[in-house]
Amino acid sequence: MSRKAIYPGTFDPFTNGHLDVLERALNIFEQVDVVLAENSQKQTLFSVDERLEMVTEVVRDLPNVNVDVLHDGLLADYARQAGANAIVRGVRQVKDFEYEFQMSLLNRHLYPEVTTVFLMPNVKYTYVASTIIREVSMLGGDVSKFVHPYVLDQLLQKRAERRAH
Ligand code: PNS
Repeated sequence: MSRKAIYPGTFDPFTNGHLDVLERALNIFEQVDVVLAENSQKQTLFSVDERLEMVTEVVRDLPNVNVDVLHDGLLADYARQAGANAIVRGVRQVKDFEYEFQMSLLNRHLYPEVTTVFLMPNVKYTYVASTIIREVSMLGGDVSKFVHPYVLDQLLQKRAERRAH
């Protein structure tokens, strides 16, 4: 039996906390595919192509990882078509739980063979969320401890573009 998981998210941008969760997932599953949601409910700072490029760069040296985009449609359908029987989600704090609980049960309703697995990142990433990384970085703060150097470059570029306007 192949143990394949998908690790979905908006990843705007992909942080070291996401990487930590991905590495933990790779200790459990044979294959983990990072799946970027294009049409997230959220207004994103980076386009889907930019996010795809960043994640691809960050995971470049990790074996058994593919990066893909969910352009449209349901994650449950994507998981079924990809032959994945697990969805990995990182949880940092209790407040994450309600939303994750709903998604997990809804995804199971839509695709009963799929199980959502919650992983906790290293405690040093408990307060690292893409939202706060974006905000701090766009306001000129140093986020180099929380993102891969490639992602940091992209954030700095985005900040410079915004300041030029
Ligand atoms: O990183 P995020 O923004 O918390 O990830 C949320 C995501 C992308 C996993 C979720 O919005 C999602 O699965 N979207 C795809 C559409 C879908 O299947 N929605 C129903 C979820 S029960």
